[in-house]
Amino acid sequence: MNMDISEIQTFDHDVVVIGAGGAGLRAAIECSAQGLNTGMICKSLLGKAHTVMAEGGAAASLGHTDERDNWKVHFRDTMRGGKFLNQWRMAELHAQHAADRIRELEEWGAVFDRTSDGYINQRPFGGHRYPRLAHTGDRTGLEIIRTLQDYGIHQGIHVHQECTALKLLKDSGKISGVFGYWRDTGRFVLFRTKAVIMATGGAGKIWRVTSNSWEYTGDGMEMAYSAGAELIDMEFAQFHPTGMIWPLSVRGILVTEGVRGEGGILLNSNNERFMFNYTPDRFKEETADSPEEAQRWLDGDASARRPPELLTRDVVAKSIMKEVEAGRGSAHGGAYLDIASRRDGEYIKRKLPSMYHQFKELAEVDITNERMEVGPTLHYMMGGIAVDGDTQMTAVPGLFACGECTGGMHGANRLGGNSLSDLLVFGWLAGKGAKDYVSQLSRPLQIDPEHVEEARREAVGPLNQEGGENPYLLHEELQNIMNDVNIVRTAAGLQRAIESLQELKPKLANIYAAGSSQYNPGWNQALSMRPMFVVAEAVARAALIREESRGAHTRLDFEGEREEWGNINIMICQNADGSMDTRKVDRNAPPDHLAEIAYSNLEDLEGGVHV
Ligand code: FUM
Repeated sequence: MNMDISEIQTFDHDVVVIGAGGAGLRAAIECSAQGLNTGMICKSLLGKAHTVMAEGGAAASLGHTDERDNWKVHFRDTMRGGKFLNQWRMAELHAQHAADRIRELEEWGAVFDRTSDGYINQRPFGGHRYPRLAHTGDRTGLEIIRTLQDYGIHQGIHVHQECTALKLLKDSGKISGVFGYWRDTGRFVLFRTKAVIMATGGAGKIWRVTSNSWEYTGDGMEMAYSAGAELIDMEFAQFHPTGMIWPLSVRGILVTEGVRGEGGILLNSNNERFMFNYTPDRFKEETADSPEEAQRWLDGDASARRPPELLTRDVVAKSIMKEVEAGRGSAHGGAYLDIASRRDGEYIKRKLPSMYHQFKELAEVDITNERMEVGPTLHYMMGGIAVDGDTQMTAVPGLFACGECTGGMHGANRLGGNSLSDLLVFGWLAGKGAKDYVSQLSRPLQIDPEHVEEARREAVGPLNQEGGENPYLLHEELQNIMNDVNIVRTAAGLQRAIESLQELKPKLANIYAAGSSQYNPGWNQALSMRPMFVVAEAVARAALIREESRGAHTRLDFEGEREEWGNINIMICQNADGSMDTRKVDRNAPPDHLAEIAYSNLEDLEGGVHV
């Protein structure tokens, strides 16, 4: 029997932001500042977001610790780190506006570590030419979320917590609503809205070893895809080089790059500092080639080059893997990370307090005396929803996106710390984009009751079966399949993954959750399976198409970057019959002024261009 739409609890907003991490909060704050009636849906509790996992800092060329820094050097580093596949305009906007967004946060109450003369302190991170990460010890993401939350709740934003969005609704192709449910009571809820900003983060839970928590199941990417938006460059998934690997119960939990930024070094089982063997040609000019030079850098010698532990994440993660393959891995199949021999205990506890407690409590390791054991963990997705850089609007009128759920900004590999500045800059721009869009709408938008009924029927499907597939086991099967779509890939493995996903689809359609819709974690899990499947298929298909190794995408059967792929993006959208369409798209040539910066000599950029 159809449900009468008027029986469903309904809210009216000008704009609905889905996701309440850093990107969602920043977008909602801007929408509200622009005078829009703003609703924000959080799948979990407000502030419980992957933003906190960017522990080591937010990248912005404030130039406080090295005055040679400026937006152009930041832009150049970001493009080089992304292996030049980044969307030019996004990388430009990000580098130009990051510093202002950090200063704004400080005005809103964020407490950053200070230099001795009172400025926001900045620490070094992989791939950043200068110390660039504004930080609060090793809890930067947490401080940023805290600030946005404290500030945001006074801006008139309507927060809907523990609510999961399931489907976007449209009127004549334009966004007109969101259908979802309250996770506790299981009751459905409808949001009538003129625009949606998707800020749902990534999909780390499709992999087994990940720094992501349960919320990260690709919901926003799937909802946007199903509503007609495109996904871009899904093959690029970032494995952070240092996650905990022991004990097994904590495998994947992040060990901040800040440890290496503060001087930590990586060692193999022979106690060799192996990263000196892995500097790619592109970074040789700016990377120390001896422990002595690396030590001078640590001691503050401005003429010394960065240690190789601060190469980009794709390089460090793969180097650890190679050491393990060569039989030189740590006891549990990773590498040793040593800060104890580099810094005194008090310094470590002051700059890395969370790491100190994390290892003490979870692994019974005192990092002021002992080495940590670490290995790659899935941390971030560079691929995601395709958006226009200036407005953050997708191909669907009224649908915007920002933060990790979008793609393009970071190219083939993201630099650490660029995620926090990304979510601030693009959350801000998405809010402005939504305001401009809403202002020019000429008529009220409608919600079609048939579409609501269809969404409701799909959602209750798993509850209305006599029996069927267990969603938890299906999730495990999915994670097993993704072992073929891991840090290194081959055509055979990717083919196998795609075929296995196809074979699993009937099971997905037959998924079963026992009990009623109230307080039912099994049903919640069942509803997150479609998004995970869509994202997994998109990653596997894009990875099969890209026949080269670039950044975070490593094909054992196609080693190295290939020139013919240097300007190709892989776009994914849904066909009318529900199947997945993939196509290669030639990226537009960069404007001259950006090409000049990206490929320039550093000396030409240094000094005098802070923004
Ligand atoms: O290592 C970290 O602190 C993570 C930072 C990031 O992903 O940006």
